[in-house]
Amino acid sequence: MTCLTLLLWISITSCVFVQAQDQSGFISIDCGIPDDSSYTDEKTNMKYVSDLGYVESGTSHSIVSDLQTTSLERQFQNVRSFPEGKRNCYSIKPQQGKGFKYLIRTRFMYGNYDGFSRTPEFDLYLGVNLWEPVVLVNETAIVTKEIIYTLPSDHIHVCVVDKNKGTPFLSVLEVRFVKNNTYDTPYEALMLGRRWDFGTTSNLQVRYKDDFYDRIWMPYKSNMKILNTSLTIDETNHNGFRPASIVMRTAISPGNESNPLTLTWSPDDPRSKFYVYMHFAEVQKLQSNETREFDIYVNDDLLAENFRPFYLFTDTRSTPEPVGRTKNEIVIRKTDLSTLPPIINAIEIYQINEFLQLPTDQQDVDTMMKIKMKYGVKKKNWQGDPCVPVDYSWEGLECLHSDNNTSPRLISLNLTSSALTGEIDPAFANLTSINKLDLSNNSLTGEVPDFLTSLVNLTVLNLEGNKLIGSIPAKLLEKSKDGSLSLRYGGNPGLCQSSSCQPTKKKKSGYIVPLVAAVLVLLVLLIVLALFCHFKRRSRRDAISNKLYSNGVNTGPLDIAKRYFNYSEVVEVTNNFERVLGKGGFGKVYHGVLNGDQVAVKVLSEESAQGYKEFRAEVELLMRVHHTNLTSLIGYCNEDNHMSLIYEYMANGNLGDYLSGKSSLILSWEERLQISLDAAQGLEYLHYGCKPPIVHRDVKPTNILLNEKLQAKIADFGLSRSFPVEGTSQVSTVVAGTIGYLDPEYYTTRQMNEKSDVYSFGVVLLEVVTGKPAISRSRTQSVHLSDEVGSMLASGDIRGIVDQRLGGRFEAGSAWKITEIALACASESSAKRPTMSEVVMELKKSVVGKVNDRDSYRDGPVRMVTMNLDTEMVPKAR
Ligand SMILES: *[C@@H]1O[C@H](CO)[C@@H](O)[C@H](O)[C@H]1NC(C)=O
Ligand SMILES: *[C@@H]1O[C@H](CO)[C@@H](O)[C@H](O)[C@H]1NC(C)=O
Ligand SMILES: *[C@@H]1O[C@H](CO)[C@@H](O)[C@H](O)[C@H]1NC(C)=O
Ligand SMILES: *[C@@H]1O[C@H](CO)[C@@H](O)[C@H](O)[C@H]1NC(C)=O
Ligand SMILES: *[C@@H]1O[C@H](CO)[C@@H](O)[C@H](O)[C@H]1NC(C)=O
Ligand SMILES: *[C@@H]1O[C@H](CO)[C@@H](O)[C@H](O)[C@H]1NC(C)=O
Ligand SMILES: *[C@@H]1O[C@H](CO)[C@@H](O)[C@H](O)[C@H]1NC(C)=O
Ligand SMILES: *[C@@H]1O[C@H](CO)[C@@H](O)[C@H](O)[C@H]1NC(C)=O
Ligand SMILES: *[C@@H]1O[C@H](CO)[C@@H](O)[C@H](O)[C@H]1NC(C)=O
Ligand SMILES: *[C@@H]1O[C@H](CO)[C@@H](O)[C@H](O)[C@H]1NC(C)=O
Repeated sequence: MTCLTLLLWISITSCVFVQAQDQSGFISIDCGIPDDSSYTDEKTNMKYVSDLGYVESGTSHSIVSDLQTTSLERQFQNVRSFPEGKRNCYSIKPQQGKGFKYLIRTRFMYGNYDGFSRTPEFDLYLGVNLWEPVVLVNETAIVTKEIIYTLPSDHIHVCVVDKNKGTPFLSVLEVRFVKNNTYDTPYEALMLGRRWDFGTTSNLQVRYKDDFYDRIWMPYKSNMKILNTSLTIDETNHNGFRPASIVMRTAISPGNESNPLTLTWSPDDPRSKFYVYMHFAEVQKLQSNETREFDIYVNDDLLAENFRPFYLFTDTRSTPEPVGRTKNEIVIRKTDLSTLPPIINAIEIYQINEFLQLPTDQQDVDTMMKIKMKYGVKKKNWQGDPCVPVDYSWEGLECLHSDNNTSPRLISLNLTSSALTGEIDPAFANLTSINKLDLSNNSLTGEVPDFLTSLVNLTVLNLEGNKLIGSIPAKLLEKSKDGSLSLRYGGNPGLCQSSSCQPTKKKKSGYIVPLVAAVLVLLVLLIVLALFCHFKRRSRRDAISNKLYSNGVNTGPLDIAKRYFNYSEVVEVTNNFERVLGKGGFGKVYHGVLNGDQVAVKVLSEESAQGYKEFRAEVELLMRVHHTNLTSLIGYCNEDNHMSLIYEYMANGNLGDYLSGKSSLILSWEERLQISLDAAQGLEYLHYGCKPPIVHRDVKPTNILLNEKLQAKIADFGLSRSFPVEGTSQVSTVVAGTIGYLDPEYYTTRQMNEKSDVYSFGVVLLEVVTGKPAISRSRTQSVHLSDEVGSMLASGDIRGIVDQRLGGRFEAGSAWKITEIALACASESSAKRPTMSEVVMELKKSVVGKVNDRDSYRDGPVRMVTMNLDTEMVPKAR
C-alpha cells in the first residue's frame, strides 16, 4: 500500500473512528461561562468550552457566591437560563454525525443563580421527544440526566421546555462518542438509571480519564465482602464496554459465602423497562483447587449459567430483552461446583425510551437550517425541530403531519418582512413538498432563479417588495397564466415585468472559479503529501536496512558485537542462570535482563549443537527475520561449547499451557481467534516473507508464545536444521517434528516443506477450538483429534466440538469456519491443504468484528444478602 493511500485512509477513518482517549469524540460545554472562553478542568483534564455557537437564546448567570466552593465542580458555577420562549434548544453537530452512537449528558444545579430561591421544574427534550422531566429539590441538589442515543440526523438538539414551574436552565452539556456495538438495543434511546462501582472503598466517582467513554461511575457502599487487586483489568481492551479498570479492580461478594448475591431496584413507574449490564472480572488469582462459578438470574430468568469470571479480564453480561417489574431482582448464585462465592464488579441499568414522535423530514430540516443560517433569521421558536412538537413549531411554518409512521413535511414557509438580504438561495429548491412560499417585503437581490420552477406543488409564490432584477422564468409565468400558481412580484423596481426580457446568463461562472481553485489547492496538497511520505519512508527504509545489514560491509564488526555475547555476558544477563523459565529437548530457558528489558535466554546443551559454522550462519540469518508474530532473536553466544540464544521475553508463556489447563485463564473465543490469526501470520511470513522460505518444522502449541497483551508469536523457527527438536531422538540428525503434529506425508517422502507446517498448524487450530490434545489415548487405542473432530463436524455438532470450558460463550459462525479451516489444513494429502496465506485470509474474516466484541454474544434466552440499588448516593467529585 502506498503511503499516500494510507494517509488518505487515515484522514477518512479519523472522521469515523475516534479514540475517545484524546477527547476528540467529546464535546464538553460549560453553559453560561463568558462567550468564547474555555478552560481545562483540573480534575478530569477535560476541556470545557462556552456555549457560544451552540445556543442562540438565554442569559448567563453565576450561582450565588457562597455556594461557589472549591469542592463543587467548576461546571456548576455558571448556568444559562431561558426566561423567554417556551422551548429553547442547544444544537450540536458532532464530528461523526448521523448513524453513530453518543452518550449525551445534561447536568443541573440551581444554586439560586437568580436570587429568587425558587427551584424550578421543567421538561428536558432530546430532539422532538421528551427525555425526562427535571426536578430540582433544593439549591444544591445536582441532577444528572444521561442518555445513549444513535443519531437519526447530523444534529443533536437538546431542549428545555417551560412548564410554568420556574425558569428552565442548564449547567453542563456533554456529548461523548460511543462505539456502535455497545449498548445495543432496537429502541431509540437508553436513559441511565444507575451506574454503580461495587467494592470501592473511597467515596469518589470515577470518570474520564479512567473511563474511556467518560461514564460517571458512582461508588456503592455496602457491608459486603470486598475483593480487590492492584493489577490492571483488561489492559488490552478485549471488552468493548471498557468499564474503567479502577472500577473493575474491586468487586463484592456476600459475607456469608453460602448466600447468593441479590440486587434489587424498584422503578417509580412500574411500566418502565430496563436493560441491565453487569460487568465481571476475577480479581483473585485462584488456586488449582479453587473454582468460582455462578448462575445469574434476572427476575427469575436464567441469564447465564455456570459463569466463571476471567482473571483480570472484563466480561459483560446483559439482558437480551428489556426487563421490568414493580420490583426487579438480580440473583447471583454459586453453583454446586464452585468453591468460592459469587462476585460482581460493576453494574449499569438503563431505562428504555421509545421516542415515538418522528422528527421532521431530514431534507426539510437540513434546508431550514441552511436558510436560517444564510439569512440569519431570528423568529419565534426557530430552534430545535421545525415541525414537532406541534406546540413549538417554528413561526411562519406549516407542516403536514400525515400519520404516525411518516415524518412531517414542510408545506408552507412564510418569510414575509423578515429582513432577508442577498440572493434567493438554491436551498429553497430542496423544500420539495412546499405549497406556499412567501418572501415578500424583504431586501432580496439578484434574479428570480430558475430552480423555483422545480417545486412541483407550489401554488402560492409571493416575491413582492424586494430588490430583484432580471426577468421572471418563463415557466413560472406560464403556471401563473394557467392559474396553477398564484404569483406576485410587484414592488421590485429592477424586475422586468414581461416575458420578452432577455434572461442574462452569468450564473455558472460564479461557481467555476472557486471550484477550480479548490481542486488546484487539493492537488498541490496531495503532491506535497506524497513527496513528504516518499522521503519519510525512504529515510525509514534506509534506517532499517542499515540496521539489518550493518554486519555486512557498512559498519564492520561493531554491530556484530552488539548481537554477539560472550559467555560471561550471558552469565551476567541471566544473573548466573538464576531463574529457569522452561525446559526443552535442546536445554533450558532462563530469565534474563538486558539493558533493562526482560529477555529469555535459551542455553543449548552441548550435544544438541551441530557445529559452530552452521549454528552461526543460521543465527545470522534469523536475526534478520522480523515480524510482530515471530519472537525476535536479540543475540547469541557460541563461546567454546557454550551456545545460547537470547530472545525477547514473552510474559504469558505458551499457548499449550492455556489449552491444557495448566494456566487458570480460560482463553475466550475471541482471544482464541486472535491468537490463531497471529500465529498464522507469523507462519505466513516465514513461508512467503523470507528468502529463502523458512519451514518451521515443529509447529505446536508450546511453540506459540504469548506476550503481556496475549499477542501470539511463533518461537523456535529456523533452527531445526541444526538442532533436533524436542520429543525426538537426540541421536538422529534427521529433522522430525512432534508426534501428533507431524505431516503424515513425511513418513513416505521424508521431505518437509511449507505444507508440513500447514498440517501442524491445522492440528494446533483444532486444539484451540476444542481445548483437547492432539492425540487422546485410551487403554485400547489412540485417536487423532482431526479424526474425532471430522466426524463430529459431519454430524453438525459445533457445541460438542468447541471447548466446554467456554460455557457456550462463542460465536457459532466463526466456530464453524475455523473448524473447517483447521480440518482442511490437517488433510492427509498436502495437495488438499491450503497455503498459509489462504489460512490468514480466512481467519481474518472471522476475527474482524469479533475481537473487542465479545459482549455481542448473548447466551440466549436463559434466564441475597440484598442490596437495594435505588439508594441515592452523593459521591464527591474526584
Ligand atoms: C457504526 O455505524 C456506522 C453508521 O451506521 C457504520 O457505518 C459503521 O460501520 C458502524 N461501525 C461498526 C463497528 O459497527
Ligand atoms: C438537597 O437535596 C439532596 C438530594 O435530595 C440532599 O441530599 C441534600 O441534603 C439537600 N440539601 C439541602 C441543603 O437540603
Ligand atoms: C485491598 O483490600 C485490602 C483489605 O481489604 C486493603 O488492605 C488493600 O489496601 C486493598 N488494596 C487495594 C489495591 O485497594
Ligand atoms: C450462612 O447462610 C446459611 C444459609 O442461609 C446459614 O445456614 C449459615 O448459618 C450462615 N452462616 C453464617 C456464618 O452466618
Ligand atoms: C486448596 O489447597 C490449599 C493448599 O494448597 C488449601 O490450603 C485449601 O484449603 C484448599 N482449598 C480447597 C477449597 O480445597
Ligand atoms: C399517533 O400517536 C398518538 C400518540 O402517540 C395517538 O394518540 C394517535 O392516535 C396516533 N395516530 C394514529 C393515526 O395512529
Ligand atoms: C404571510 O404572513 C403574513 C403576515 O403574517 C400574511 O399577511 C400573509 O398572507 C402570509 N402569506 C401567505 C402566503 O400565507
Ligand atoms: C415590511 O417590513 C417592515 C420591516 O422589515 C415592516 O416595518 C413593514 O410594516 C412591512 N410592510 C408590510 C407591507 O408588511
Ligand atoms: C439539496 O439536497 C441535496 C440532498 O439532500 C443536497 O445534496 C444538496 O446539497 C441540497 N442543495 C442545496 C442547495 O442545499
Ligand atoms: C405534491 O402533492 C401531491 C398531492 O398532495 C402529493 O401526492 C405529492 O407527493 C406532492 N409532491 C411532493 C414532491 O411532495
